[in-house]
Amino acid sequence: MTHAFRFQTVPTLIVEFGAARRLGALLRAQFPALERLCVVTDGFLHKSGLLDPALADLEAHGWNATVIDDVIADPPEHVVLEATARARSAGAEIVLGLGGGSSMDVAKLIAALAPQQQQQLSEMYGVNKVTVQRLPLVQMPTTAGTGSEVTAVSIVTVGEASKMGVVAPQLIADLAILDAELTLGLPVAATAATGIDAMVHAIEAYTSAHLKNPVSDMLAIKALELLSRNLLPACEDGNNREAREAMLLGATFAGQAFANSPVAAVHALAYPIGGIYHVPHGLSNALVLPHVLRFNADSAADLYAELADVVVPGATGSAEDKTQALIEKLEQMIAATAIPARLRDVGIEREGLGRMASDAMLQTRLLVNNPKPVSEAGALAIYNAAF
Ligand SMILES: NC(=O)c1ccc[n+]([C@@H]2O[C@H](COP(=O)([O-])OP(=O)(O)OC[C@H]3O[C@@H](n4cnc5c(N)ncnc54)[C@H](O)[C@@H]3O)[C@@H](O)[C@H]2O)c1
Ligand SMILES: [Fe+2]
Repeated sequence: MTHAFRFQTVPTLIVEFGAARRLGALLRAQFPALERLCVVTDGFLHKSGLLDPALADLEAHGWNATVIDDVIADPPEHVVLEATARARSAGAEIVLGLGGGSSMDVAKLIAALAPQQQQQLSEMYGVNKVTVQRLPLVQMPTTAGTGSEVTAVSIVTVGEASKMGVVAPQLIADLAILDAELTLGLPVAATAATGIDAMVHAIEAYTSAHLKNPVSDMLAIKALELLSRNLLPACEDGNNREAREAMLLGATFAGQAFANSPVAAVHALAYPIGGIYHVPHGLSNALVLPHVLRFNADSAADLYAELADVVVPGATGSAEDKTQALIEKLEQMIAATAIPARLRDVGIEREGLGRMASDAMLQTRLLVNNPKPVSEAGALAIYNAAF
């Protein structure tokens, strides 16, 4: 028996190596009547020249582009609000997120906030709280990680350290364009961290407690296959086109999976690490991943065993044995990428773990999806294991 379910994703996905070089033409074909485009990115990407071919083609096809490059990692609220004001004064008719998850998340909110005054950002946090229509929205990732190009989620840092999500169908883009050429130069540490973030999306979608569904399952399995086979090749040789294409497609599949079968305790425990210590999102996930899986193992072993069949195809034995093999394989992969493996390696002190555990408890939107209930004491035990 299949439970009733709902599955939403972008209506159009273009997967094309080199698509950025003909971005103006691609957008002209889909949005013939529009002219004023707001490109949302970060300062590093803008200055790096990576976006130049895309910007040149936009101009060649009559787009009047305003580049907003103030996005920073784990974007705080004020960045969203200032960028919205700029998009408004430029008279933006369409918004393009062109960068990592941070840029795409800000682009979503600009598209929702810029065309109206009825609803404030502060009223949008939570699930299905957005009541307004947005501007046309296109997303083009430069990391193979967040899957934000296909999700209904935008993550904002509110106040000093808390990460809050706006989750609403209006945030799903009209068009997502995957051009793996944009990811060729992604440094190895960022390749590893963002790739592990994508793997976590697939793993947590597959074990999600309430909205797990057959379409998300299929996407999560395919995502994990692509990601687990190509993460190390992409880290070893950033110019490996095949590995980069597989990673980008895998990250998008994982995004489609968790957009409809949401992530859980790995993300809930990762957010305080990013919020308080400014550790990149993917790395925050990697630091707690094996420890959360061990914590969940007695509740989720059958599902983890199915994932082990994908990630460690030779694993045999009971569901518990396969779960163990999965966790060990993930730990080996994290070690092989040489990103930090312990909380103490990223500047966290043991005295900080208590605050992290109490902050993690605030991520109720995520914790409800975990296959096993997580108490504050449980979260603290996981952080201690990861320390
Ligand atoms: N909306 C969602 O569904 C969702 C899901 C997971 C995470 N997130 C959020 O996304 C953000 C993280 O996004 P991210 O991991 O993609 O990182 P990011 O967007 O914060 O970028 C990290 C760094 O990588 C650089 N970079 C990006 N692409 C590059 C490239 N091709 N070459 C060289 N450098 C490049 C950027 O300039 C930046 O300095 C966090 O705020 C996180 O909370 C959102
Ligand atoms: Fe994530």
